[in-house]
Amino acid sequence: MASSLSLPLLIVMIISVWSLHTVQCEELDVGGDNGWATPSKNTQLFYNDWAAKNRFKVNDTLRFAYKKDSVMVVREEEYEKCRSSHPMFFSNNGDTVFELDQPGLFYFISGVATHCQRGLKMIVKVLEPESPSKTAAAPSKKSAATAAVVLGGPEFIPLALSSLVGVIFM
Ligand SMILES: *[C@@H]1O[C@H](CO)[C@@H](O)[C@H](O)[C@H]1NC(C)=O
Repeated sequence: MASSLSLPLLIVMIISVWSLHTVQCEELDVGGDNGWATPSKNTQLFYNDWAAKNRFKVNDTLRFAYKKDSVMVVREEEYEKCRSSHPMFFSNNGDTVFELDQPGLFYFISGVATHCQRGLKMIVKVLEPESPSKTAAAPSKKSAATAAVVLGGPEFIPLALSSLVGVIFM
C-alpha cells in the first residue's frame, strides 16, 4: 500500500514545487487571445484594460504575438504622441518576449503610428519587489547584529553571528 502511494505523492510534490517556481516569475500573453493587434473602434482602451486586470512583478515577461506590426518601449511623451525616433526597445519579429526588469511604469506602443493612435498602446505598472528586509522585524535584527560587531569584543561574535543567521533565513 505504502509503495503504491509513493509515486503519486512524488508527482504531486514535483508539481507543487514546479508551480511554486513558476509563480515567482510569470509570462503573460499581452491581450490574451487577441494578441497585439489594433483594437476595433469602440475598444480603444483594450490594452490598458487588459493591463489593469493583471499584476506585474519584476522579472515577469510579456509575450506580444502579432503580424505586420511591431512593439516599442518608449518614454511617456512618446507614448502620448504615438511616435518615437529612439525607442528604448524595438522588435518586429512577430513574437516578442519582453522582460519587465525593474519596478515602475513601462510604455508600450506599436511602431506603426496609425495603429498606436487607434489604441495599440499600453502602460504597464510593475510593482516594487517585496523583500524580507522590508518587513518590520528584519531591520532591527540586522542593526542589532551590526551593533554587536561594531561595539563588542569576541564575546559578542556568537550573538552577532546568530542574529545574522536569523536575518539570512528570514
Ligand atoms: C530578477 O532577475 C535577476 C537576474 O536573473 C535577479 O538577480 C533578481 O534578483 C530578480 N529579481 C526579482 C525581484 O526576482
